[in-house]
Amino acid sequence: MGVVEIVNMTDEYAADIVTWRYPAQYDCYDLVGTDAGFFADPRNGYVALVDKGELIGYRVFGPDGRVPGGEYDESALDTGGGLRPELTGRGLGKQAIATGLEYGAARFRPTAFRVTVASFNIRAQRVVQGLGFVPNRTFNATTDGRSFVILTRQQP
Ligand SMILES: CC(C)(COP(=O)(O)OP(=O)(O)OC[C@H]1O[C@@H](n2cnc3c(N)ncnc32)[C@H](O)[C@@H]1OP(=O)(O)O)[C@@H](O)C(=O)NCCC(=O)NCCS
Repeated sequence: MGVVEIVNMTDEYAADIVTWRYPAQYDCYDLVGTDAGFFADPRNGYVALVDKGELIGYRVFGPDGRVPGGEYDESALDTGGGLRPELTGRGLGKQAIATGLEYGAARFRPTAFRVTVASFNIRAQRVVQGLGFVPNRTFNATTDGRSFVILTRQQP
């Protein structure tokens, strides 16, 4: 990766994101069929992650980073996101998420960040734990019963 940065979500980026399909096991993160307008609407907290202008992923800040069934309060800012499917599994996630956290810290000045990761998704848990997130608790989503873990990172 070259110069990775966060920029505003555009209609074009959102139209790209809603075509993304992940390989089996991670296909629960597929965004195919979701409404591009939802990602493009700034009220939903989505921003684009670009490398020299090319869309490589997205990040989200706020309630859309939560999973139904989890217990959430206002002590931390929720964040989530994803890399473009063909860029996963190559060690790029750490820099991608770190870039998002730097942006989120500067823009929102949270006292802590919070992420909610599917329990099966050890890959994502390794990356966020490598960035200082600590697991707090697990719960089952009210939507499909799947197990999730909530991790937080206090900000300096
Ligand atoms: C989650 C995500 C950011 C991780 O980034 P990534 O670049 O794909 O991850 P990496 O290739 O660096 O793998 C991270 C670690 O998990 C390990 N790993 C990969 N697959 C694994 C598996 N099935 N079981 C256990 N460990 C695994 C890697 O070896 C690596 O180990 P390391 O910490 O010793 O280097 C990225 O895959 C992504 O955005 N995926 C989209 C779908 C998704 O999972 N979303 C989750 C949102 S919370």
